[in-house]
Amino acid sequence: MTGTNTGEGRGGTAALPPHGDRLRGRVALVAGGGGGPDPGFLGTGAAIALLLAAQGAVVGVLDLAAERAEWTCALIGRQGGRGVPLVADVTDEAEVERAADALVTAAGRLDVLVNNTGITGDAADAPDLRQWDRVVGVNLRGTMVTSRAALPHLRASGGGSIVNISSAAAVRAFGSGAYGASKAGVIALTADLAYSWGRFGVRVNCLVPGHLHTPIGDRGGEEGRELRRKANLLQTEGSAWDVAWAALFLACAESGWITAAALPVDAGATAATVLGMLPLL
Ligand SMILES: NC(=O)c1ccc[n+]([C@@H]2O[C@H](COP(=O)([O-])OP(=O)(O)OC[C@H]3O[C@@H](n4cnc5c(N)ncnc54)[C@H](O)[C@@H]3O)[C@@H](O)[C@H]2O)c1
Repeated sequence: MTGTNTGEGRGGTAALPPHGDRLRGRVALVAGGGGGPDPGFLGTGAAIALLLAAQGAVVGVLDLAAERAEWTCALIGRQGGRGVPLVADVTDEAEVERAADALVTAAGRLDVLVNNTGITGDAADAPDLRQWDRVVGVNLRGTMVTSRAALPHLRASGGGSIVNISSAAAVRAFGSGAYGASKAGVIALTADLAYSWGRFGVRVNCLVPGHLHTPIGDRGGEEGRELRRKANLLQTEGSAWDVAWAALFLACAESGWITAAALPVDAGATAATVLGMLPLL
């Protein structure tokens, strides 16, 4: 399963994940699910949307940028699936509620919410506080806004699964300022929502990805890629698919007794000490 370029297993980047039935009859909403322009090099949101669709779900692809939402839906359509493009800013409650309602009107129900939206900002040593507010607003408050909009629909379906996307920057210092702080908040919010909404049959879990090779996270060229390969215990580079497969697991009934978890998807990077990593770099 490793090293393929078909979207199968980890490490692949092409947009053709294998099909299955794990989410047949289910409806998912992926916030920040837009993508483009290269179907061979996907961001995390697009890979998650494609994988959930390939497992039979109708997928609402919510994004700030209409063309990015439509791009992912077109790719889902080319796979034989159904994507519903939705435009909203996750910080805007009314827009997000309208988008969630539109998805349920179009597809009949809601079972899964993936909160993938995330933006970065200034380093911690030179923060512009307006930008700080925007980063926390999108990454942390946005996760609450979409979850709150989804809750009545998840309850109407008899329960469901919310998958939040945090970051290794939440648990290891990285100089990322508001980004790391907001992503740490996402981990805390995950446990808190799991506590509050478990009685409704709503599971809430969180993925904690390490440094990935994605269009937005692609920094440092070939040298950056080599460093990303070395800076973990498997000595390989992570892709959007690695996060997507973990999100699929948390979305499916197979993870039905897992809630309030924060699962690292980082090839062990955050488990090692800095001194322990030095011989590997
Ligand atoms: N790429 C990495 O190395 C990495 C590492 C750890 C965690 N993450 C997290 O994974 C997630 C995905 O990152 P990615 O780099 O793969 O990006 P991505 O390709 O999944 O794109 C994110 C999408 O979010 C959309 N978006 C941004 N602001 C929005 C808003 N206010 N409302 C609605 N949509 C909005 C963008 O238009 C974009 O399409 C983020 O939460 C990020 O913080 C990424």
